[in-house]
Amino acid sequence: MKARPSGAVIAGCGLAMTIVWALASACAPRADRKALVMERARVMQRGLEEAWVRGLQAYGAELFAGRGGCATCHRLGDEGTRFTGPNLGVDPLCASDPAALTERDPVACKPLAARVEARRPGLSALEYAVESIMDPDRVVTPTYAPKVMKRLDEPPVSLTDEEILALAAFVVGHACPRDVAGIAAARAFITPCREARDTRMP
Ligand code: HEC
Repeated sequence: MKARPSGAVIAGCGLAMTIVWALASACAPRADRKALVMERARVMQRGLEEAWVRGLQAYGAELFAGRGGCATCHRLGDEGTRFTGPNLGVDPLCASDPAALTERDPVACKPLAARVEARRPGLSALEYAVESIMDPDRVVTPTYAPKVMKRLDEPPVSLTDEEILALAAFVVGHACPRDVAGIAAARAFITPCREARDTRMP
């Protein structure tokens, strides 16, 4: 006589399958939920970091026109009235008579961030802006005189590291990194930049 599965065995198998199914369906959505939460957290963090960078640049804009004193020497594109220093944006003259500016400084009609390769290869745009503020004579822009722009982290202006970073983030505009890590890399450059300057010219 063929052994037939008893009711208990059938019920046991049924229960086991139910448990496996229940576990599988409970786990899959949880994994999906976790992935979703992580993705949302990442999107939120990106948004917060971008907002923070925009805030930093807005602070830099305020310092540019105010306490930093930059606007007393520099124009930014067609904004401003002073010509003591180079235009830190694209000068309006570049549209009508670029040669007037590029003859002696081939990159004069490029946005500041795009001049870096010619001025200080190896530095990021943000690092070059930081260096320009702390150590203006490390590279002197062609056609301009050295020693006109002072070291702005020293008296009387005495910009803090945070203010230098904000100003640098503002003047490089779209080339500014949009995340905290990118800004942190330029922040880490401040101390070696100051040390190199003080070793070269105390
Ligand atoms: C007293 C005038 C003066 C002030 C104030 C001044 N600068 Fe300058 N800046 C200059 C001159 C002149 C140069 C060109 C000579 C040189 O490279 O040092 C220059 C060069 C630069 C450059 C390099 C431009 C290039 O084409 O490579 C940057 C960037 C810059 N300045 C940013 C700033 C910022 C930001 C501030 C404010 C925190 C500032 N400057 C304040 C006069 C000034």
